[in-house]
Amino acid sequence: MLELVEVSKRFGGVQAVDAVSLQVDSDSVHGLIGPNGAGKTTLINLISGLLVHSSGNIRLNGRDIGDFQAHQRARYGVARTFQNLRIYPNLTVQQNIEVAASTVTRTNRRQQASPVEEAIQQFDLADKRRLYASELSYGHMRRLEIVRALALVPHVLMLDEPAAGMNQEETEQLIEGLQWVKQNHPCAMLVIDHDLRFIMSVCDRITVMNMGSVLSSGAPADVSKDPAVIAAYLGEPVS
Ligand SMILES: Nc1ncnc2c1ncn2[C@@H]1O[C@H](COP(=O)(O)OP(=O)(O)OP(=O)(O)O)[C@@H](O)[C@H]1O
Ligand SMILES: [Mg+2]
Repeated sequence: MLELVEVSKRFGGVQAVDAVSLQVDSDSVHGLIGPNGAGKTTLINLISGLLVHSSGNIRLNGRDIGDFQAHQRARYGVARTFQNLRIYPNLTVQQNIEVAASTVTRTNRRQQASPVEEAIQQFDLADKRRLYASELSYGHMRRLEIVRALALVPHVLMLDEPAAGMNQEETEQLIEGLQWVKQNHPCAMLVIDHDLRFIMSVCDRITVMNMGSVLSSGAPADVSKDPAVIAAYLGEPVS
């Protein structure tokens, strides 16, 4: 289980994340939504160790990982994708995945079956292994990032706007892919996106952030009817 207790981050005069508490169970998908600048990416950066939180606690399976550096958290099973893609364009699809998988092999710390081979099939990359990552369509680059994150055999998988730039068909395939991950390689998943139908389709629970704080948290149906969420973000209820 991923557990945040009153986690905060300030950049100069901007309180980007303000005492955020949330829990993500080890077999559940948690959506993180909210307007631009709400602090969603910053929160993922704090969990993955790319940024250091100013105060609060970040726990994974009961252990405080707040003092771990980013690479230690990755080895401990904290995996993520980026809002702005960070695949290696000059490596092949296969090499991109192997670089991530080698992190786990070297440390040999998790015994579970690696999801990589099945994930390559599931995310439609099997016939693209030898292509350079730069040759993939944008939708497949996003999928490669997810498979690469899965290669870490994650306890926590965080996806920052995975559906961004995807067409409807690609988004449907992504939904199927994430449902496959949930069933076959359950972990605590935290998913940011502005595509609310996508979020409602894949998430068990949702947290809405606004100006660094948690505005609302709960089941998707309840959150989407919350007047504060409608006023700050949705504009109208999502059916
Ligand atoms: N490295 C940084 N230095 C200074 N300010 C930052 C930094 N990163 C983020 N911020 C600020 O923190 C706030 C939250 O930004 P963040 O990127 O987390 O928002 P977001 O919810 O992910 O937005 P979006 O939906 O547009 O991706 C914004 O005011 C942003 O300008
Ligand atoms: Mg963001």
